[in-house]
Amino acid sequence: MENKIKNVPLLDLKAQYATLRNEIEPVIKEVIESQYFIGGPKLKEFEDTIAEYCQSKYALGVSSGTDALLLALMALDIKAGDEVIVPVYSFFATAGCVSRLDAKPVFVDIDPQTYNMDPEALQKAITPKTKVIIPVHLYGQLANMEAIMKIAKENNLYVIEDAAQAIGSENEKSQRAGTFGDIGCFSFFPSKNLGGFGDGGLVTTQNEALYNKMNYLKNHGAHPKYYHKLIGGNFRLDSLQAVVLDVKLRHLDNWTKGRQENAAYYTEGITERKLDGDIQTPVAIEGYRHIYNQFILRSGKRDELLAHLRSKNIGCEVYYPVTFNNQECFAYLGYKEGDFPIAETAAKETLAIPIYPELTNEQKNYILDSIAEFFDA
Ligand SMILES: Cc1ncc(COP(=O)(O)O)c(C=O)c1O
Repeated sequence: MENKIKNVPLLDLKAQYATLRNEIEPVIKEVIESQYFIGGPKLKEFEDTIAEYCQSKYALGVSSGTDALLLALMALDIKAGDEVIVPVYSFFATAGCVSRLDAKPVFVDIDPQTYNMDPEALQKAITPKTKVIIPVHLYGQLANMEAIMKIAKENNLYVIEDAAQAIGSENEKSQRAGTFGDIGCFSFFPSKNLGGFGDGGLVTTQNEALYNKMNYLKNHGAHPKYYHKLIGGNFRLDSLQAVVLDVKLRHLDNWTKGRQENAAYYTEGITERKLDGDIQTPVAIEGYRHIYNQFILRSGKRDELLAHLRSKNIGCEVYYPVTFNNQECFAYLGYKEGDFPIAETAAKETLAIPIYPELTNEQKNYILDSIAEFFDA
């Protein structure tokens, strides 16, 4: 049968919204009618529900994933002179937040299979100034938290998990992202598996003192109102976002299942078309729950493949083309090109293709056939 598809976007939020309109419009209207936009019962309800989803004792809605990281570092009193170890390959905020507090981001290379922080490299990067480790659960799969937590405990270091891309991802013991370290940080950027109608984020913790401190810090450090022992900021999540996210959370597991099915479809399709020698599909660790915020392909001919897929109107993106050591703003740290060969090669060889749950088989086949067309040419 002829495939009539002629283009596939990287993400189609309109397709998702079409299935949700009837649930979301009334809750937005309710907030508007109440005129209760900041804090209030709707936000608290959402925080309680999502804390449970994340298997976390405490959860606090915040203004973005970036602010979640900043708030977490502030709650741990990170300041000038402190070193914070981050993977060299992630979204900018993972490292940027460290520098914003005048602390020093220390970069480590990644595992070539999962693209997550390499625990051996982490071990080597620890110095007497190290205070925090920030593993990132990149693309929706947990970093090796068993090894990372062991190193953290042995060296008396805090762990902030950057779980921006990994809500609901689990290890083989069904333990969820954000519950291993001292603080978990999540993003509700619209392209995330749980995306709001704008910016938003979340911090999780199992520690009551840290929860209270972050609760004050997200509100300029006020406690009680107008009395400030701490200097914080405005890192609050709007009630409008909370009610939208609360509705979407009810669908999240279904969407994750859809993403996992799409991932399996692609992997099988690539084998069927005998493309395994040309292109590498994501390595999902046995027993882990990978939530596929992104589906990453790898090829030595990445740039040409990307150009070909774009010429077929297929949305593709490179996450991320420049590792932190090669970012101009981090030149002051003194790293050189080539210091992190695994991540730097990944930055040249990887690309993301559409994985959103509403994809049809015709769309996936169009993408698979377009990949085959490139390698068969
Ligand atoms: C790994 C990672 N960390 C942090 C962030 C920052 O989140 P936000 O865009 O909500 O500020 C993102 C999201 O873009 C991310 O992917």
